[in-house]
Amino acid sequence: MTAIDVNDTAAAAPYWDPFDVVIDSDPHPTWRRLRDEAPLYRNDRYDFWALSRHADVEAASRDAAAFSSAHGTVLEFMREDFQAGGTMIFMDPPDHTKLRHLVSRAFTPRRMARLEDRVRELCVAFLDAQAGEAGFDYLGDFGARLPAMVIASLLGVPIEEQEEVRHTIDQLFVIEEGQGMGNEVSMQAGAKLYTYLSELLGKRREAPQDDMLSDLVQAEVTEDDGTVRRLTHHEATGFAILLIGAGTETVARLLGWAAVLLARHPDQRTLLVEDPAGIPNAIEELLRYEAPSPVQGRWTMRDVELHGEVVPAGSKVLLLTGSAGRDERKYPDADRFDVQRSFDGHVSFGYGIHFCIGAALARMEGRIALEETLKRIPTWEVDHDRTKRLHTSTVRGYAEVPILVG
Ligand code: HEM
Repeated sequence: MTAIDVNDTAAAAPYWDPFDVVIDSDPHPTWRRLRDEAPLYRNDRYDFWALSRHADVEAASRDAAAFSSAHGTVLEFMREDFQAGGTMIFMDPPDHTKLRHLVSRAFTPRRMARLEDRVRELCVAFLDAQAGEAGFDYLGDFGARLPAMVIASLLGVPIEEQEEVRHTIDQLFVIEEGQGMGNEVSMQAGAKLYTYLSELLGKRREAPQDDMLSDLVQAEVTEDDGTVRRLTHHEATGFAILLIGAGTETVARLLGWAAVLLARHPDQRTLLVEDPAGIPNAIEELLRYEAPSPVQGRWTMRDVELHGEVVPAGSKVLLLTGSAGRDERKYPDADRFDVQRSFDGHVSFGYGIHFCIGAALARMEGRIALEETLKRIPTWEVDHDRTKRLHTSTVRGYAEVPILVG
């Protein structure tokens, strides 16, 4: 009898980990329990702590001195001797500050505005190719293709080579059970991309053009001793790869959630068809409601007291941005999807010094994708039997969303 009691107690305690495919298919009830019953959650099996309330996620994101990114931010890769490899998302100040300052200059409003025409051109081409079809895969034929082409444009990949680069990016994200992206296809694609971008950077170094790769090779960084230097070839190539990694999968997941949630809430979709000016707010609500990148890892640099417990220095703490978006303490009626919701922000692009550098681009891609979709396809249904989910440690959402049109 005792054994049964113990099990009952164990079953009653909320359990969450990012690898459980069943929990991941709908983590919201579990996250709600964490917020209510275990705001500082401890998982012994995978040796991490988790913060799920909006206020806690925001506060920890703001405190980079206590919550470091320099030991990795993806649970299975976090360790004491983690090597950031010059990738700024895995760096702390002052190194992060220098690099961030430098690459921010490559994200000028002028460049973003110019990219807008290209984003629309791509959306129109992908969606017009489906005209007259009874249905198509909203991600495979559109939403997953768009961001890779956009990043290629942003970097300055020549138009005639963009399709080939997109294909390699697709292969980069191939994941296999138990191996994640550590499989042969993905590794080869990574090496191919590195070589391609490295060669293109070399060309831009000799003859700069008006693109981000040219900005990266010309950008200067001031070291602590006051010396000024340019980014090394390795740093510039690494940053280009980071942009591809961070800006492709996330936007594709956002568009997948848009297709699914707007079909589930036709009244909300009608509001946007009737008034496309509401689309930017709808993008924020989509991001709040289903965060494409719902978990950010941090490493405690000192003992930290949270909810009456001490998290020792050197612990892994997962910030559940996906849960923060549903926190009733911050958003009234948080589980209601409401494209007209009035709210003052969310943490789905992160918060603090690592706030997503591509947020403006992601918002623009989302807005134009929805504008062009709703203009052509005011109603659709999702063929739920044929949807496919994607289970990776960095993004959450759909891999395939077949839709039936008209
Ligand atoms: C809907 C789309 C996107 C979502 C949900 C998203 C989400 C995030 C989040 C949560 C972070 C913070 C990570 C942390 O605190 O550890 C982040 C950082 C970052 N994102 Fe995004 N992102 C999106 C699109 C993009 C795009 C389009 C790009 C590039 C063009 C991009 C580039 C980056 C980079 C470089 C960082 C690291 C910034 C730093 O360390 O200072 N992201 N993103």
